[in-house]
Amino acid sequence: MFPQSEKPSEKIGIIIFGVTGDLTRRKLIPALYQLALADQLPDELAIIGFARREWDDDFLRSEMRNAVEKFSRTQPIDEETLDMLLSSMFYVQSSFDQPDGYEKLHTKMDELGVSNLIYYLSTPPSSYKAIVEGIGAAGLEHCEDGWVRIVIEKPYGHDLESARELDTAVHKVFDEDQVYRIDHYLGKETVQNILVFRFANGIFEPLWNRHYIDNVQITVAETVGVGSRAGYYDTAGVVRDIFQNHILQLLALTAMEAPVDFNEVCVRDEKVKVLQAIRPLQGADAIRDTFRSQYVAGTIDGKRVLGYKDEPNVPDDSKTETLLAAKFEVDSWRWAGVPFYIRSGKRMPRRITEIAIQFKQVPLPLFGWQNMAGDAPNRLVLNIQPEEGITLSIGAKRPGPINQIEPVQLDFSYSETFGSNPPEAYERLLLDSMNGDATLFTRSDEVDQAWVIITDIIKAWEENNTRNLPVYEAGTWGPSGMDEFIARDGKVWRDLSK
Ligand code: BG6
Repeated sequence: MFPQSEKPSEKIGIIIFGVTGDLTRRKLIPALYQLALADQLPDELAIIGFARREWDDDFLRSEMRNAVEKFSRTQPIDEETLDMLLSSMFYVQSSFDQPDGYEKLHTKMDELGVSNLIYYLSTPPSSYKAIVEGIGAAGLEHCEDGWVRIVIEKPYGHDLESARELDTAVHKVFDEDQVYRIDHYLGKETVQNILVFRFANGIFEPLWNRHYIDNVQITVAETVGVGSRAGYYDTAGVVRDIFQNHILQLLALTAMEAPVDFNEVCVRDEKVKVLQAIRPLQGADAIRDTFRSQYVAGTIDGKRVLGYKDEPNVPDDSKTETLLAAKFEVDSWRWAGVPFYIRSGKRMPRRITEIAIQFKQVPLPLFGWQNMAGDAPNRLVLNIQPEEGITLSIGAKRPGPINQIEPVQLDFSYSETFGSNPPEAYERLLLDSMNGDATLFTRSDEVDQAWVIITDIIKAWEENNTRNLPVYEAGTWGPSGMDEFIARDGKVWRDLSK
């Protein structure tokens, strides 16, 4: 991860499978444009789109022009940079299971003279296996005079078994060090800052353990609903969509030990150890330590929104959770006895992702229990998005003749300090994949262990045969069961209403 990724010096070919899809338009091409603007792309670059639709080079270029104009984070567009980027784009039309498609691709790569290759799988996951096998059958997984890498989007599997099947198929063709599994949360500046905050500052680490921390709360709240993605989402739910990847990554970064070095081996080794230390939630334990709910119609930002079951393509009898709370325990010397309360939902009142570290109360109430600036005044919040920053809450004396203690906050705001408009996650991840740095990508054993944890929970739910999930009104923080879930332990969720 360090030193900062630099402009790659070699000629590189990026082959985007599923180039006609949404992710390419919204994220990949705008990210490549941004890298071009910052002069971080290699001087010689070829982008080859591979997909089923009857497009050609010109049509691809005009579609990608529209994409950059619409989704770029910096406006107005720099026409010269965009033209240059577009002129490096080419199209190969084929379905993913057609051997001659890979022959066409081979010919195109030869024509363009690219031998350092990144295959980017930006297709529905059902096509991953066919693509990997297609690449393998055409002998395109290695290149005599260059390197070959493959970037694979989430979801990586649907459960432990399917993830392992996919991994076996991938490893039949590629070595693990060629494989870059994306979790875009790892590309977010504020997520990378968790490690910088913890390991570049000496004053917090001595407190970062069971002796001083009462509990940790991780929230990933979204205002969006399922939108047009029900086909995927209804088979996934929050547990697969957010918990298996983004949330377990946030938890691992929060809980891990200091790595021996900041490189892809050591950082990922430490994350895997955290995942291994998470106490399995099986059977009755999973039922007790998770809480699921589904949204019904409600109001967000003054607008009426549909209930989950009324969204397009959601079955009337869907039991898919759109809100999930869980309590995890990390069985390690550092964390024994410290609960990690996690919640994530769609159609919440506010979009916010944060990690809140709640420190313990002082041992002796010198100023009286009634005057403690809250039950436990010291809380550190890492605000991941959208108001990126760090807040430390402390108790302070209100000026005056009596000892009246008030909670106050020490605030650091990214945008105030460094300006707004930070790089998008995909910019960093694309650059790292070009530079061969896999630190911010998930390794095979990491994904496997995350699925072990999540599959236990899913199995327990299936065996429990729930008839209906409790519901919450869109635009609320969940039904009363959410509060009861944590109140059992004598705790409360952090109030995130503004
Ligand atoms: C994706 C999920 O991985 O992350 C989406 O599939 C979710 O359902 C998204 O909305 C959230 O990402 P971000 O960057 O907006 O927090």
